[in-house]
Amino acid sequence: MATQDTVEDTVEAAETAEQSSEAKYPPLENPPYHVGIIMDGNGRWAKERGKHRLEGHKAGTENLRRILEASVEFGVKMLTIYAFSTENWKRPPMEVQGLMRILENVIDRELMDLHKNGVQLRHIGQLDRIDPSLRQKVLDAIELTKNNDRLILNVAFNYGGRAEIVHAVRRMIEDNVRPEDVSEELLSQYMYTAGSPDPDLIIRTSGEFRTSNFLIWQAAYAEYYITETYWPDFGKDEYYQALRAFSQRERRFGGVKNP
Ligand code: IPE
Ligand code: IPE
Ligand code: MG
Repeated sequence: MATQDTVEDTVEAAETAEQSSEAKYPPLENPPYHVGIIMDGNGRWAKERGKHRLEGHKAGTENLRRILEASVEFGVKMLTIYAFSTENWKRPPMEVQGLMRILENVIDRELMDLHKNGVQLRHIGQLDRIDPSLRQKVLDAIELTKNNDRLILNVAFNYGGRAEIVHAVRRMIEDNVRPEDVSEELLSQYMYTAGSPDPDLIIRTSGEFRTSNFLIWQAAYAEYYITETYWPDFGKDEYYQALRAFSQRERRFGGVKNP
């Protein structure tokens, strides 16, 4: 086989794939900059297949890779994923331990690929109750990827919106902030998300109509997209549909359309 033919064939195949992807997913005029995802429904996905809940969580993390790739392709710059809430400690210890192990495995397996692909990892939430070895892996991953700028991936792990507000208020008091200096802008700077724009779109899979304590301060004017699809089945097509639905919405932020 002539090497050159092989290379040309490969280039041609890649170009065709790119063209067909563009035909299927025409570039969006107004993609959201920051998307939040409440990745829900792993347990029900597993139950319907007669599997253990942890199998559902594993399938959920595999899906994340698809959504990360699609985010870059569709022009999303920041993605915040809800991976473990402050309320999820109420689950059976085996499930909690399994979720911790899954995060650790994801870092071990995927970090180098994420880094090569220009993903900057960040964390929101509290790391203090987390096992020291996992905590160190998270901190190392943040340090390694801090200069990447293709996609910012915020992982909400041991995150709760109310806990975040309490944490912010405590730190303001520690800093001796005067009451008259407390403002929405200042409080935002004390949140885990300081310096990041608020989410434009929040997607929740598996059909629940609630925030479950996700970015409750930051999502004041976010658009929501809720689908019945369980997270492990939420693929590229439906992600595109969610982004397209967002780009067609009219955001008013409390104002009127044509004053
Ligand atoms: C979401 O899936 C993942 C986490 C909360 C960690 P669930 O585990 O909540 O799945 P369901 O809601 O029970 O189906
Ligand atoms: C929200 O899902 C948390 C995550 C996706 C990590 P839950 O399954 O914990 O939410 P509830 O209990 O249905 O509100
Ligand atoms: Mg759930």
